[in-house]
Amino acid sequence: MRVTLFGASGLLGQELVREFHGSKPGGDERSGEHLTALSSKDADLRDRARVREVIFNSRPDWILLAAAYTDVDGCESNRDLAFAVNCEGAINVAEAAREAGSRLLFLSTDYVFDGCKGSPYEITDPRNPTSVYGKSKARAEERLLEILPEVSIVRTSWLFGHGSRCFPATILKLAAARPEISVVNDQRGSPTFAPDLASALAGLCRADARGIVHVTNSGNCTWYDFATEIVRASGLPAKVKPVTTAEFPRPARRPAYSVLSPASLHAYNIHMPEWQDALRRYLESAPATPVAQ
Ligand SMILES: NC(=O)c1ccc[n+]([C@@H]2O[C@H](COP(=O)([O-])OP(=O)(O)OC[C@H]3O[C@@H](n4cnc5c(N)ncnc54)[C@H](OP(=O)(O)O)[C@@H]3O)[C@@H](O)[C@H]2O)c1
Repeated sequence: MRVTLFGASGLLGQELVREFHGSKPGGDERSGEHLTALSSKDADLRDRARVREVIFNSRPDWILLAAAYTDVDGCESNRDLAFAVNCEGAINVAEAAREAGSRLLFLSTDYVFDGCKGSPYEITDPRNPTSVYGKSKARAEERLLEILPEVSIVRTSWLFGHGSRCFPATILKLAAARPEISVVNDQRGSPTFAPDLASALAGLCRADARGIVHVTNSGNCTWYDFATEIVRASGLPAKVKPVTTAEFPRPARRPAYSVLSPASLHAYNIHMPEWQDALRRYLESAPATPVAQ
C-alpha cells in the first residue's frame, strides 16, 4: 500500500508517520507499505498545481488528508483562510485523487455538529456547525462526497498527543504553576489520543473504508473531568475548579455536547481504548512533564 500524507508535521500527522514508517525512512517495505509524508512547505493545499504534482509523483493507493487550518478561534477572524485551506484545499486534493485513481481519507471534526442532540451523534445526523472552522469542514465534507463518492471521512474530536500543543500539556503546565485552575464543565466530548487515532486510520485504510466514520477514544467527559483526571493521574496538588463556558467566552462557539457514536467504526471491527487508558499512556510517555508516581 502506497500512502501520501498531507499534514505530516501536525499532531496527528507525526503519529501517522510513526504508524506507517515503521523504523525505516521512506516506509516499511517489509510490510508492503510506503509513506510519502508532506508538510505545508512541501505542498500548500491552496496550490492546486503543486497538490496535483505531488500526488502524481507519489502515485498513492491512499491519500491521508490530515492538513488543516486548525486554530478554531483564529478561523473566526480569518474566514477566508479557513475556507481556502479546509475546504478549497481539500477539494484540490480530492480532484487530484480522482484524476490519479487514489483513495482519499479526509480528517473532519465533531464541530460539524451544533451540540444540541444530547446523545451520541451518528454518521447520519445532520451537520449544523456553529463555528467558521466547523462550517469550513462541513462544507468540505459535502463537496468531497460529490467529487469522490467513495471518499472516507473520519470525524474525530479533542485530539491530544506529543509533538504539539494540546489540552493535557497545557493543564500539566498550569497545574504545576498554580494552586487552582478553572476549567469549563459544560462542554462534553471524547478525548482522542493521536497514536490510537493513527492506528485506527491505518486499520480503516487496510479495510478499504468508505463513507463517514466516527473515531474517538471510548467514553466521554467534560473538559473539567478531563483536567481533573490529568491532575489526579499526574499527582499534582493543584485544585481544579469547574466553570461555565459563559464565564470564559471565546471567539468560536463550541458544541456543548459532541460525543460521536462508535457504531460506524465498530462496523470495521475496530475498537478504541477508553480515554482514561489513553491518558495514562500519554502521561507515561510524556517527555519532560512533571509526572509524579
Ligand atoms: N486537534 C483536534 O482537536 C482535532 C479535532 C477534530 C478534528 N481534527 C482534525 O484532525 C486533523 C489533524 O489535526 P491536528 O491537530 O493534527 O492538526 P495540527 O497539529 O494543527 O497540524 C496541522 C497540519 O496541517 C498543515 N497545514 C496547515 N495549513 C496548511 C496548508 N495551507 N497547506 C498544507 N498543509 C497545511 C500543517 O503543516 P505545517 O506544520 O507545515 O504548517 C500541519 O502539518 C485536521 O484535519 C483537524 O481539522 C483535529
